[in-house]
Amino acid sequence: MLKGRHLIEPNDFSLDEIESIMQLADNIIANPEGYSMVCKGKLLASLFYEPSTRTRFSFEAAMLRLGGEIIGFDDPNNSSVSKGESLGDTIRTIECYSDIAVIRHPREGTARLVSKFAKNMPIINAGDGGHEHPTQTLTDLLTIRKFKGGYDNHVVGVCGDLLFGRTIHSLVKMLSRYQGVKFVFISPKELQMPENILNLLNDGIYKETTNLDEVIGDLDILYMSRVQRERFVSEEEYLRLKDYYVLDKKKMKSAKKDMIVMHPLPRVNEIATEVDDDPRAVYFTQAKYGMYVRMALIAKLLGVEDKNDKCI
Ligand code: NCD
Repeated sequence: MLKGRHLIEPNDFSLDEIESIMQLADNIIANPEGYSMVCKGKLLASLFYEPSTRTRFSFEAAMLRLGGEIIGFDDPNNSSVSKGESLGDTIRTIECYSDIAVIRHPREGTARLVSKFAKNMPIINAGDGGHEHPTQTLTDLLTIRKFKGGYDNHVVGVCGDLLFGRTIHSLVKMLSRYQGVKFVFISPKELQMPENILNLLNDGIYKETTNLDEVIGDLDILYMSRVQRERFVSEEEYLRLKDYYVLDKKKMKSAKKDMIVMHPLPRVNEIATEVDDDPRAVYFTQAKYGMYVRMALIAKLLGVEDKNDKCI
C-alpha cells in the first residue's frame, strides 16, 4: 500500500510497489481521460529551491492532468525562506494547506529531513543535491520497460558525471535490484562513481572505463549525463571536463541496432543534436514518460479512488 508514504530514494519502495506504479502509468497512457478527475479537490505543493524545467513542469502537468491543483514556488526568494524561516516550519505550514508535496533542494538529505516534519502529507524528493532523484528513476524505468520490454539482463552504459549525477546514483541503485543487469561506468577519472555506490554492487556486475568508443558496441542502453557544473568548486575544472564525451553519429555507428540512448536532460554538449533523429535516441520520449509516471505516483501516494470507489 503506497497511500500516505514518502518517496525519498528508490529503495523506499519494494519491487512490487514499483511494478504497481508502472502498471498504473501504463493504464494512464492507454486511457488518460479515465484518470483526468481522480485528484479533483486535491492540492500539490511544489517547492523548488533549485532550478528545474522537466521535473517541476512534469509534476505540475501531472497533477493538473489528474484534475488536481498546485501551489508553490520555483524561487525560494519569493517565499518566507528569504526571511530566514526554517525548512521544518515551512513544511508544517504547507501541510496545513496541501495534500502532497514535492521538494527539490541543493543540500543532500533535505528531503529525508523534511519528511520527518510532515505528519499527514506524502513528501516526494525531486532531487537533493548530488544525492538522489527517485522520480527520474521511475521515469527511466518506464522508458526502459517501454523500449526494452523489461529490466532484466541488460548491459547498461552510464556515461558522464558519475560523481555528482544524482539521477545516475538513483538509477544504478535501482537497476542493481533486477536480475542479471550489468553496468559499464564510463567517466573521466575525476568524475568516477563514488565508492559508496560501488560498495552496494556485487563484484563482477560492473566495469569502469574512460573510453566510450571501446565499449559502446556492448551496450543495450546508453545513459548519457551532463557534467554537473553547479556542484563543482572550480569553474576551471568544470571547463576542462565538460566536453569529455560527445555522442555523435560516428560513435552511434558502432552501437547495436537496438541500443537505446537515454538522458535525463537538460543536455549541454554531451549528445550532438544530429543524434536526435536516430530512432535509438529516446530522451524526449523519456521526458514525456516522466509526466505519466508522476501521475501514477501522485495517485498512488494520495490513495485516490476510481469511479467504483476502489484505490487505483
Ligand atoms: C536532472 C537533475 O536535476 O538532476 N534533471 C532532471 O531532473 N531531469 C539531471 C541534470 O540536471 O543534469
